[in-house]
Amino acid sequence: MLIRSQIPKSIWRSSSIRLFSSSSLLRSSTPSSTNIKQSESIDKQSPEYKEFQEFQKWKNLQSQSTLDKPKRIVVAITGATGVVLGVKILEMLQKLGVETHVIISKWGVGTMKFETDYTLKDITRLSTVHYLSKDVSAPISSGSFHHDGMIVVPCSMKTLSAIRTGYTEDLIVRAADVTIKEKRRLLLCVRETPLSSIHLENMLSLSNKDVIIFPPVPAFYTRPKSIDDIVQQTSGRILDFFGLDTSNFPRWNGMTNPNVVEDKDEGSFEKE
Ligand SMILES: Cc1cc2nc3c(=O)[nH]c(=O)nc-3n(C[C@H](O)[C@H](O)[C@H](O)COP(=O)(O)O)c2cc1C
Repeated sequence: MLIRSQIPKSIWRSSSIRLFSSSSLLRSSTPSSTNIKQSESIDKQSPEYKEFQEFQKWKNLQSQSTLDKPKRIVVAITGATGVVLGVKILEMLQKLGVETHVIISKWGVGTMKFETDYTLKDITRLSTVHYLSKDVSAPISSGSFHHDGMIVVPCSMKTLSAIRTGYTEDLIVRAADVTIKEKRRLLLCVRETPLSSIHLENMLSLSNKDVIIFPPVPAFYTRPKSIDDIVQQTSGRILDFFGLDTSNFPRWNGMTNPNVVEDKDEGSFEKE
């Protein structure tokens, strides 16, 4: 049922909405047969009824937007190199108005200090809620706390292996373990090179359980001019998996480069 505070003032001002708000028409989120029967007794040509229809349209849009856009994402930063990716994801989620629940591991803080100028204050500023990685009593430790998915970015090989085996000693692994058991989306931005058979086995095992394994491998077809271009593209592609379009990185749009011609037998090559 809708409550008055959810209705924009401009719409509420319409007297017909106030009139209908007391009826069962307003109480249902989708028009049902009962509603249609009730509405038959109403003059459908009346301005009040038209206003009510407008209101219904607005109400449907509201419910669609909350279904289509994730509202709450858990973000964990661990001690693999590439902490800047985690920070960029937090910046993007904040811009998109997504509620973030953030954990950074002890070595996540260590690598952040070593490779960036960011501080814990920046992480706090970019998070809606943040937790200590040792606090396994936090809300995200329980499946009863709803969220729309979790991103571990960057994800160390240690955290990868702990998630794979279910060794939930800290909040990051516990929250990931819960995300898997609740069949929610989990993406691991795993970072190491070269990869050993142990790393690869851990990745394959989790991939077989619908976990998204997303190593931060740059795409060069976008002709990146800076590290920031690469970070932006990688972060944007990560958020694609959560139905969030940041619209701030180039996407592949076919061979549109006029300097490149295609030959059936030889493939593509530069024009002379
Ligand atoms: C500067 C620096 C870079 C590191 N880069 C990586 C890396 O790319 N991948 C990785 O698996 N571990 C890396 N490590 C090692 C991890 O920080 C270490 O295994 C740590 O125990 C991970 O713990 P956590 O997953 O709880 O953060 C790095 C460590 C340092 C200090």
